[in-house]
Parts: sequence; structure tokens; C-alpha cells
Amino acid sequence: MELDKIKRILVVGAGTMGHAIAQVYATAGFEVDLVDLNQEVLDNAMNKIKSNLSLLVEYKHVKSGEISNILNRIHPSTDLKVAAQNCDLVLEAVSEDRNVKRDVFSQLNEFCSEDIILASNTSELNIFNVAKVKNPKRLVIHHWFHPPYIIPLVEIVAGRKTSSEVIDISFNLLKSIGKKPLILKKFTNAFVVNKIQQAINSAVFSLLIKGIASPEEIDMAIKNSLGVRLPFAGVVQNLDFVGLDVVYDIIKNMGGLDLVLLREKVKNGQLGAKTSKGFYDYQGRTEEEILTKRDKLYLQMLEFLKQKNAFEPI
Ligand SMILES: NC(=O)c1ccc[n+]([C@@H]2O[C@H](COP(=O)([O-])OP(=O)(O)OC[C@H]3O[C@@H](n4cnc5c(N)ncnc54)[C@H](O)[C@@H]3O)[C@@H](O)[C@H]2O)c1
Repeated sequence: MELDKIKRILVVGAGTMGHAIAQVYATAGFEVDLVDLNQEVLDNAMNKIKSNLSLLVEYKHVKSGEISNILNRIHPSTDLKVAAQNCDLVLEAVSEDRNVKRDVFSQLNEFCSEDIILASNTSELNIFNVAKVKNPKRLVIHHWFHPPYIIPLVEIVAGRKTSSEVIDISFNLLKSIGKKPLILKKFTNAFVVNKIQQAINSAVFSLLIKGIASPEEIDMAIKNSLGVRLPFAGVVQNLDFVGLDVVYDIIKNMGGLDLVLLREKVKNGQLGAKTSKGFYDYQGRTEEEILTKRDKLYLQMLEFLKQKNAFEPI
């Protein structure tokens, strides 16, 4: 198993994610087999790819002369067996149903050579319990984000039996095609981003069900607060800006969360920007230096968002 031997990629499932991941790999120069259950889905997928590529040309992410080469590198098919026998890596992007995935992996197990990487794009399943394969060292999660030809992150999640070689190859492959891969330190359901998204979803539904705010009001509130800060501060560094002592008090008052980590930081005087150390280490910079830099970025972001009419619904 070597990175430079990966030339032909099989994407199984040509739906919302599969067609677009096939497009990303083909754009990066790989031959791609795109397999789904029927021709109609595949025709639809190829039409969507054409339209995505035209948009990317408009934004100078792809050269217009490249479109036909990219399309020629994608080979739509309903024959999983043939495609599986010829590929060097598989990305499974079929429906998020454990029975469907189990069945696809059992076919891949039968048809693919034993050492090629089998990656799943599952959003939250423990694929390592679902897929039964002969060589579980090569089973891994590559969790892409929609739309994959725009969003950089891909989470790489290993099972207990996944080899470090497979993780390294996954990381280097995704990096080489311009993605921003994150290797999780261990498996957890829904990984990093969907776990956080799930906490947001749970709050959204609670607010809606209790009639506290309308959908439009919730989005207006979020876009006019987190929306301005998030691109620069993320969700962890923002805590440093609030002050970890203040965050500690807020969470304690609201109840329900584990405070061990925060208590330790506050006890050690790591309060965030105000002590030059919190979750991040600001290397002795003063609070004023840190917050002035932050504020300049927030002001630029606010200006940009206003220009783009971002506070209105899409
Ligand atoms: N939609 C998203 O935003 C998103 C984001 C990240 C990850 N995912 C994950 O990606 C996977 C695919 O999601 P999606 O949104 O593309 O779903 P989708 O329903 O749009 O597409 C799934 C495709 O799989 C095909 N399929 C089903 N059984 C098959 C089989 N046996 N062989 C070949 N093809 C088969 C279906 O015909 C369909 O075209 C899921 O695991 C999902 O959780 C989705």
C-alpha cells in the first residue's frame, strides 16, 4: 500500500456526496469509477458534475479547458464488481443505513484486492462494527463535508484495527488534493464537527418547540453574533476571549456540563487572553495586543458580510 500507487479511485454511491467527491478526485487527476444502482442516478450525477465544474470555472477554481478532461476521467457504472477489481482505493458514499453499508462492504471485501484502503464517508456510524472485512487494517473513515468541492475539511477516523500506514496515506492523499484533513485521536460517534453541529441542532429544536424564537429570528441572531466571530475565533479560542473564569461561572450557573478541565485552567491562572494563556498560548502577548488583532479581523469580517448581504436569508 503506497500513496503513489493510488491512481484509480472507486466512489460507491453517486448521490449528494458521492458525485461531488468523484468530481474532486477527477479534478485532481485521478481516474474515478463512480458506481450506483441505476443509470438514471448516474446520468443525474454526471449532469450535476458538469454544472458544478462550470461554477468552479466562473470562480477560477478550475480552467475551462480542463472540464472535458475531468469528465473523461470519471467512469460511471452500475457494475461494482468490475470497478472494485480495478481500483486502488474505495470511498463508500452510499445511504446512511447500516444494512446498506454492511452489504456494500461485504461486496467490496469479496471483489477488491485485500490491501487497498476502504474508506467510508459515514456521518456518524461506527463503520468498524458495521463493515465485516478480511483485512480491517485498511478500513478507515474519510468524512467529507458538503459541498466537497468547496469545503476543505475531511475528518479521518481510525478504528482500533486501522493501521497507522492507512492513516498516513489517507492524510497525505487528502492533503495532496488540497483538502484540510484532520486525524481524530480516537473514534467517537459523529466525530468532531457533527458532534458540535448536533449540540447546535438540539438547542435549535428546543428553542423552536418551546416557541422562544422563529427560524428566521434564530438565524438572524446567530449570523449577527457567532457568524461574525466564528471564522476567526473558532469555538474554542472564543472561550479564551470571553475569559475562562467567566466561562466557568456561566457554565456552573447553567449546570449540566463537566467542569473538570475549566476548573483546572482557572486554578492555574490560565484565563485566556487576559493572562496570555488559556486553551491557546499567546506567548506573552498582552491582552490589548491580542484583542486589538482580533477586533481588526472582526471589523473586516463585519464589513465583508454586510457587503455580501449575508444577514439576509440565502
Ligand atoms: N449529505 C451530506 O451533507 C453528507 C455529508 C457528509 C457525509 N454524508 C454521508 O455520505 C453518505 C452518502 O450521503 P448522501 O447525502 O450522498 O446520500 P444520498 O442518498 O444522496 O446518496 C446515496 C446514494 O447511494 C446509492 N446507493 C444505495 N445503495 C447502494 C448500493 N448498494 N450500491 C451503490 N449505490 C448505492 C443511492 O442510490 C444514492 O444515489 C452517507 O453515509 C452520509 O451520511 C452526507
